[in-house]
Amino acid sequence: MKINANYLSLSESYLFTEIAHRVAAYSKANPDADIIKLGIGDVTRPLAPVVVEAMKAAAAEMGQAQTFHGYGPEQGYGFLRDAVRDYYGSFGVTLQSDEIFISDGAKSDLGNILELFSKDNTVLVPDPVYPVYVDTNVMDGRPVQFMKGTEENGFCPLPKEGVKADLIYLCSPNNPTGAVYTREQLQQWVNYALEQDAVILFDAAYESFIGDASLPHSIFEIPGARRCAIEFCSLSKTAGFTGTRCGYTVVPQELEREGVQLKKFWLRRQTTKFNGTSYVVQRAAQAVFTPEGLKQCRENVRYYKENAQIIAGVLGQLHIFFTGGEHSPYIWMKCPRGMGSWEFFDFLLDKAHVVGTPGAGFGGQGEGFFRLTGFGDREKTKEAARRLLDVLG
Ligand code: MLT
Repeated sequence: MKINANYLSLSESYLFTEIAHRVAAYSKANPDADIIKLGIGDVTRPLAPVVVEAMKAAAAEMGQAQTFHGYGPEQGYGFLRDAVRDYYGSFGVTLQSDEIFISDGAKSDLGNILELFSKDNTVLVPDPVYPVYVDTNVMDGRPVQFMKGTEENGFCPLPKEGVKADLIYLCSPNNPTGAVYTREQLQQWVNYALEQDAVILFDAAYESFIGDASLPHSIFEIPGARRCAIEFCSLSKTAGFTGTRCGYTVVPQELEREGVQLKKFWLRRQTTKFNGTSYVVQRAAQAVFTPEGLKQCRENVRYYKENAQIIAGVLGQLHIFFTGGEHSPYIWMKCPRGMGSWEFFDFLLDKAHVVGTPGAGFGGQGEGFFRLTGFGDREKTKEAARRLLDVLG
């Protein structure tokens, strides 16, 4: 018996698990500390009322023999795939329902999709980056190259001549920096992927935070993307589904490599290894895409963006460099006083009882940076902002 020794190359624990451990240890040692958590991007607003109603109605259906549902289609119920298709239509993207696969969230599919690709492929990942892209490839033993996101390129790295990649990860609006690719920039990536015969794995989990009609919500708004991209999206941040679990992955018809339609491989994979998202959750997700659902969910997104602006305001007052918060729930700030990321994490936890995420946890380029989220409760966010001003002013 041999273990998958690639796991030995991973850091001891997943970034957010490490943070949770450190905060728990601090809390234990300082039981009176009133800690405000602006670390992991977990939502705090309750589910939208129309979503709750849909869940209740679906739960009632499950309690009646005539309307009970057992196993559903592995790729998701038609009613939800159609709703997602129509939602894409609202920003000008035409999809077929059978290109949409319902999942339990983007994180799972971002990892699972790698089964479709050879372990010899080379992977290009932005740095800083959501750690799941790197860790899942390390688990497979796939070589990862990094492209630097810096203040100079606005944390939106672009293709570089001479760099060869088979799989390219892009996340826009970006986690952790909040940076958003423009249409022109995404076109450069699509052209590059087509030239290289590469596949772009596009994480659109934060698309609902985009507040400017000129910015793309989906890679499929870009000509040529249907031949070179897979998109992952989630209702976690859009509709507060972090605990409810529902997302969707789009694999277009035209995406073929070595004469194989990747959509077919993905369907084969899902029908074998996934039994679908629960009926009740899919009915809840369908309600998100109704006019009233979108309205209610957008109010929550607005609330989170206002929280981000509260934090941004204080950083402005303190003359601390930051980006994000405009089309994103995340504020990406420079650690003050030349502190390292983890040093600032400890400082803020100890002096202000505020938890954030050290930039170094998102990659080497994140060292010296720190992420705060707008996903907190309004009063707690205001209090955290006051404390920041206090300890850094
Ligand atoms: C984050 O804090 O980066 C996110 O919550 C992670 C996730 O969505 O899995």
